[in-house]
Amino acid sequence: MFKFASLLALVSLVPAVVNAAQPLYAQCGGIGWTGDTTCVSGATCTKLNDYYSQCLPGSSTPPTTTTTPTTTPTTTNTGGPTGTPAAGNPYTGYQIYLTPYYADEVQTAAGLITDATQKAKALKVAQIPTFTWFDVIAKVPTLGTYLADASAKGKASGQKYLVQIVVYDLPDRDCAALASNGEFSIANDGLNKYKGYIDQLVAQIKQYPDVRVVAVIEPDSLANLVTNLNVAKCANAQSAYKAGVTYAMQQLNSVGVYMYLDAGHAGWLGWPANLSPAAQLFIQLYKDAGSPQFVRGLATNVANYNALSASSPDPITQGNPNYDEIHYINALAPSLTSGGFPAHFIVDQGRSGVQNIRQQWGDWCNVNGAGFGTRPTLSTGSSLIDAIVWVKPGGECDGTSNTSSPRYDAHCGLSDAMPNAPEAGTWFQAYFAALVKNANPAL
Ligand SMILES: *[C@@H]1O[C@H](CO)[C@@H](O)[C@H](O)[C@H]1NC(C)=O
Repeated sequence: MFKFASLLALVSLVPAVVNAAQPLYAQCGGIGWTGDTTCVSGATCTKLNDYYSQCLPGSSTPPTTTTTPTTTPTTTNTGGPTGTPAAGNPYTGYQIYLTPYYADEVQTAAGLITDATQKAKALKVAQIPTFTWFDVIAKVPTLGTYLADASAKGKASGQKYLVQIVVYDLPDRDCAALASNGEFSIANDGLNKYKGYIDQLVAQIKQYPDVRVVAVIEPDSLANLVTNLNVAKCANAQSAYKAGVTYAMQQLNSVGVYMYLDAGHAGWLGWPANLSPAAQLFIQLYKDAGSPQFVRGLATNVANYNALSASSPDPITQGNPNYDEIHYINALAPSLTSGGFPAHFIVDQGRSGVQNIRQQWGDWCNVNGAGFGTRPTLSTGSSLIDAIVWVKPGGECDGTSNTSSPRYDAHCGLSDAMPNAPEAGTWFQAYFAALVKNANPAL
């Protein structure tokens, strides 16, 4: 359904030419693109994926060479931070690592905001931890860079560091929508390619046993299997999604990654009729994977806009008693627990600062009026919730509003979605500026 994140460091750069034309953050290439492929001075046309190249700040210096892992991980590895999970909340006692990639995006974006007050507020976002999305295999080596940096910072400061990642590269990804279709297809050996992606993540993580890794596993995937099997692409993906998520759980468990499986949100799996089927799916997969001890629970509201605890139900939630994330979590937890699944949660509040802004609960794309929400914290108000987190890096686009794009999804053209949106995962400056302005609590 949504987003892609982006780390552009690894993608190839197209050399800028002298008569550059496209403005900063505009499209400058991709399948079907017929416009100008050059950028204004100070920006470089950067390939983000086959569908989209974007003018990004910086000169056309070639990217730093990255090392690909040379070891082939084995399934018998018992390494990892501790070998056995610490009892309780994995965040307790750890410093969350700030991803330099997002901090750079934010700093550049703040530099483009002219109003001094808004600029100062925008700069504060660079200090707020978000998750890094590994949405294509080419980005995986970057994880090693972050882990090395976190390890060094930990040694220098005496603090223990935690790196937050999103595992997001299943074959036939985003089976019920279009905006975040991925790089692997089931028809083209996608499941094996996905296993290679997981192996590469594991190979990186194994090298830094002193750094704790927390992962959200595959946003939307299992939720799509609960409610969207009427969509042919989802029905066709069912066995590959299950096998992929099982493999991810087992392999990431072997290196001590604390995992939260994505569980949609209140307006999706929180409908009373969906709770039990959802719980049964999570329980079944977890047991079939051998009850991996580092699976800590579920992540909810990833990249969505729901409040953790709404002061009153948004009118669009009418008919669902679980009208916010805390109601959803409280309703889901008992069936998980009785089935032997660890009922602990993290909840994304990165873009949940403003409520009652959607026309339909299912609207998920660049919703107008949204603001940054509650800051990441372990003060969650619920013993079921380990942490309030920012999973979606606010400012990275959910999907393009260009109706001619191969990845155009109609949700991104709705009247409550911000217009002129670039491709999923790329920087959306106007949206970021609005998130800053509408932040609640204020920045
Ligand atoms: C929309 O996408 C099409 C196909 O990629 C491209 O030719 C066109 O220039 C794009 N329009 C805008 C406004 O970016």
